[in-house]
Amino acid sequence: MNTTVLSAINEQINSEFEASYRYLAMAGFCERQKFMGAAKWLRLQSEEERQHGLKLFDFVLARDGAVDLKAIDQPSASFDSLAAVFEQALVHEQRVTVEINTLYELCFKEKSFAEMAELQWFLTEQVEEEKVAREIVAKFRLVKNDPAAILDIDRELGARTTIMGPAR
Ligand code: FEO
Repeated sequence: MNTTVLSAINEQINSEFEASYRYLAMAGFCERQKFMGAAKWLRLQSEEERQHGLKLFDFVLARDGAVDLKAIDQPSASFDSLAAVFEQALVHEQRVTVEINTLYELCFKEKSFAEMAELQWFLTEQVEEEKVAREIVAKFRLVKNDPAAILDIDRELGARTTIMGPAR
């Protein structure tokens, strides 16, 4: 594997595991506030991010590259409100989209065609990740501080049962 590309993919593995940790911290915050639906949603999202990290982990090994797991930064564990949790989630997903785009561009420049094919999955996934986060944020912005409506959104979030994403 091209060493520049390998190093960049290892950075992305770190970013995905960091996202998993970040969502888990959000889940902990929500559960303490007794927003059990949001906590469930965020736990599943944490697991989904772990799967993203593992997908790249497996890919690097399949390409006979060395996986280089790095330290994960401490995630924030306190938020102003339930809505603020999802505002941050959206900002985070937008940042990941930029990371994936940058990584894809690097692979293109380096003519790393197999890596480009692998990253296609992540490009598609980021469209979905942003869309879902944006829809949740829109609901929170709409209801503002209405407790009954916030509880409704929490219940709706709790209906999530699986991790999402395009078929592997
Ligand atoms: Fe791994 Fe939320 O994108």
